Order: sequence, then structure tokens, then C-alpha cells
Amino acid sequence: MTVDVLGRPLRNLRISVTDRCNMRCRYCMPEAEYVWLPRESILTFEEIDRLAGIFVGLGVRKIRLTGGEPLLRHALPTLVRLLRRHEAVRDLALTTNGILLARSAQALREAGLRRVTVSIDTLQPERMVAFARSARHAEVLAGIHAATAAGFDSVKLNTVVIRGYNDDEVLDLLTFARDRGLEVRFIEYMDVGGATDWDQRKVVSQQEILASIAAEHGPVTELHQSGWAPAERFRLADGSTFGVIASTTAPFCRTCDRARLTADGTFLLCLYGERGLDLRELLRTGASDEEIAGRIRDTWSSRTDRGAEVRAALPDRGILHQIDSLRADPRREMHTRGG
Ligand code: GTP
Ligand code: 5AD
Ligand code: SF4
Repeated sequence: MTVDVLGRPLRNLRISVTDRCNMRCRYCMPEAEYVWLPRESILTFEEIDRLAGIFVGLGVRKIRLTGGEPLLRHALPTLVRLLRRHEAVRDLALTTNGILLARSAQALREAGLRRVTVSIDTLQPERMVAFARSARHAEVLAGIHAATAAGFDSVKLNTVVIRGYNDDEVLDLLTFARDRGLEVRFIEYMDVGGATDWDQRKVVSQQEILASIAAEHGPVTELHQSGWAPAERFRLADGSTFGVIASTTAPFCRTCDRARLTADGTFLLCLYGERGLDLRELLRTGASDEEIAGRIRDTWSSRTDRGAEVRAALPDRGILHQIDSLRADPRREMHTRGG
């Protein structure tokens, strides 16, 4: 096991397969234009798979494919088929906005993908047009439907709750999820790179979310946790469950076992972190697996990140990066580092 300075294991790897996205959610990609990673710098499936094998050798047991929008990457089931061969990996999951999911859910399942999380912030198509510049709400719903039919071990929904945008839909989304036997997780709006519209006043806290749910559904019971997942889970009197990811008001850095690999092969440690290790350069200059493993181990062992905790302690919390700093290094963007 590879542990960092705070004793946190390197166990969970989030692999971004593309920085491109077919939505423009205001909490993630609010700008008119973006600087994309150069095409030739994007790792091939073989390169991703080789790195995944090295990470598994260092203790990684959970892999999640992210983006950008991962389904924009051509032939994603092929990558899933490569990754499933790492037998020590007990969890292989995907986070998607759902637009392209209906056509590939079955193929992903057959390739060996175990779990899917679909982002859905509103049940109102016109709101999605205004907030995410996408008129493809029906395709998201079809994607969720196809995922539930494909037989994954679990299908979850992610909703970022933003005051003045969708905070009046928490109860509707809870019902939507419950009626389909899915678990929705309400996520506090985070001041991550890319969220250049972020404002503390737009954050709806876990406390507020729970209060509005309890006002409608009665007592909310907290469920016992694994201790490593970002979501706290709750049960309602009718037995249905939901989660809250309170990264902004109640950070969980002390139990953060997550590492990130960007689509261009940069190994990143913290969602808020600046430090990265260029693994693509090592791959493409002929480094051996042992050398690469050594560099990853050294980087993780010296990790002290507590990004969300540090942000929460700031007296006047504003946005993390100004637009110029994001343009100078797109790896600071949430859509590039994969959430
Ligand atoms: P599960 O294994 O299903 O619990 O997955 P997950 O919750 O790690 O994955 P998902 O991609 O659904 O993450 C949900 C959201 O939680 C992300 O999009 C982020 O908003 C937030 N999140 C995930 N990982 C981290 C993290 O390491 N730090 C912080 N601060 N937030 C995170
Ligand atoms: N705040 C909270 N979550 C965010 N995501 C992206 N940007 C933010 C942000 N500013 C998360 C959403 C989405 C996932 C892909 O990334 O949860 O579901
Ligand atoms: Fe982990 Fe950084 Fe998120 Fe804290 S802010 S939980 S250290 S990724």
C-alpha cells in the first residue's frame, strides 16, 4: 500500500479520458471559449491501460472514468475491456452527463463497466438550456433509462445544488430518483478551478438540503459509511436513500484516497491542487514500469493536500482561479482534471 504524509492510501484513481464536453454547465464550464489539450498529447487507450496497471500495482482498487464528458471519447467500451483485466480492481465506474449514454450503456455493461453515475441538475428542459446551454434533456433522461435497463451494479445521479437555479428542485429530484430505484447525491457548489461564477451565497449547504427534505418527508436517518466515499448517505422513512456531498461546508480531505489522471497524462493529487507529475513524458521517453511506479510512489508519499479544508478556512472565500490563470494552464479546470 502506498500512503501519503497523512496516512491516506492511494486507492482510488479517476481517469479523465477527454477534456471536451458537450454541455456548458455554469458551475464547471461557464466561459465562451476554452483552451483544449493538444490532440497529440491525449493518451491512447494502451497508454492509459499501462498506467492503470502501474497504479494497480501501487494499491489502486477503484477506477472511475471521467472527463470532460467521457462518452465523447470514441470506442470507450474498448478501454473498459482493457481495464477490466486488472483483477485487483474491484470497482470500475463512469461519471457522465448522460447525453450519449442511451446508445452505449449496454456495450459498456458488456465490456465490464460496473457502475454509472449520471449528472442531472434539473428536470426542466428549459432550465438546462439556460444553465448548461444544452437542449438535450430528453437524451439525458433516455440515458438514465438505458443505464437502469443495462444491469449495472448501481446507477447513481449527481445533482449540484445552486441557489437561484435548481434549489427548488431538490424534492422533485428526490422523487424522480426514488421512483426509478436510483440514489441521488446532492452536491454542494464547489469553488473549484473552472467555476468562475462561484459565489458563497449560491452555495446551498448540506444542512439546508437536509432541512428541506425533512420538512417534506419527516425524519432523515444518517447511514453508516465506509469512511472513504465523498457522499454522506441518508434514509427516509419510506426506506429510500440519498446522499449529500458536502465538499464546500464539511470537507472530507482527511479520508481522501483519490488521485487523478488527466487525459494528457498528468498525475494530479487534489481537486484543488497545483502540483502534478507528467506521466506522458515518462511513457513516451521509454521509462520502465518500475521507474514510473517509483515516481508515482514518491509523489503520493509526499502528499499533504487538504484543498477543500484550506478553502473552507479562508475568511473571504472567492473563486479559486481567475480566467487568465485557467487559460495559462487548462489542467486547473475541473473539466480537465475530471472532478
Ligand atoms: P462513488 O464511488 O460512487 O462514491 O463515486 P464518487 O462520488 O467519487 O464519484 P462522482 O464522480 O460521482 O463524484 C461526485 C462529485 O463529488 C464529484 O463530481 C465532485 O463534485 C465531488 N468529489 C469527488 N471526489 C472529490 C474529492 O476528492 N474532493 C472533493 N472535494 N470533492 C470530490
Ligand atoms: N461544484 C460541484 N460539483 C462540480 N462538478 C463540476 N464542477 C463542480 C462544481 N463547481 C461535478 C458535478 C458533476 C461532475 C462531473 O463534476 O458533480 O456531476
Ligand atoms: Fe481530496 Fe483535495 Fe478533495 Fe480534499 S479537496 S477531498 S484532499 S481532492
